[in-house]
Amino acid sequence: MRPSETAAPLPPEPHDMRKVLGHFCTGIAVITGHDGQRPLGFTCQSVTSVSLEPPYVSFCPALASTSWPLIRATGRMCINILADDQEAVCAQFARAGIDKFAAVGWSPATNGAPRLHGALATIEADLEFEHGAGDHTIVIAHVTNLRAETGRPLLFYRGGYGGFAALEAESSATG
Ligand SMILES: Cc1cc2nc3c(=O)[nH]c(=O)nc-3n(C[C@H](O)[C@H](O)[C@H](O)COP(=O)(O)O)c2cc1C
Repeated sequence: MRPSETAAPLPPEPHDMRKVLGHFCTGIAVITGHDGQRPLGFTCQSVTSVSLEPPYVSFCPALASTSWPLIRATGRMCINILADDQEAVCAQFARAGIDKFAAVGWSPATNGAPRLHGALATIEADLEFEHGAGDHTIVIAHVTNLRAETGRPLLFYRGGYGGFAALEAESSATG
């Protein structure tokens, strides 16, 4: 068969998207806000650094998210990058309809959104704009304040959790 006669590939199913894109290892964040009555938050892996000047980050909330519309309405958020001992926090904020902040220590960031105790880094930001993208949206947020602690990240890879071990020790030992 000549290349021009090759059948067009079938469009990927959601299962294929999850499986193949799951090979892109990421950190995990909990995006929080406060509506004046109660703290809000959801687990989110789609956080990316976008621009340095102006300082922008992005993330992608699902249209099904129940917390994001409430956070969006406040216009402010805190992106809490989880440390490797916060797998339970990740799981708790990934469940809709429960008291997500039960047994989770937090204090208000400068912009009022919850800073989760023990997070590896916290990024406060204002909603800049949001673009529809299929069953998610793409949020661009303007960073207003940020801070990092020492520690190691919680990583997500192919549907499972793991940690980070630097390669330097190994390469200097062998090199
Ligand atoms: C590792 C991991 C990564 C996730 N990443 C995202 C994400 O990028 N965007 C999103 O909307 N939901 C993501 N979720 C799912 C939400 O956390 C989950 O649907 C949660 O119930 C939403 O809560 P809410 O309805 O209170 O917003 C992720 C969940 C896990 C466990």
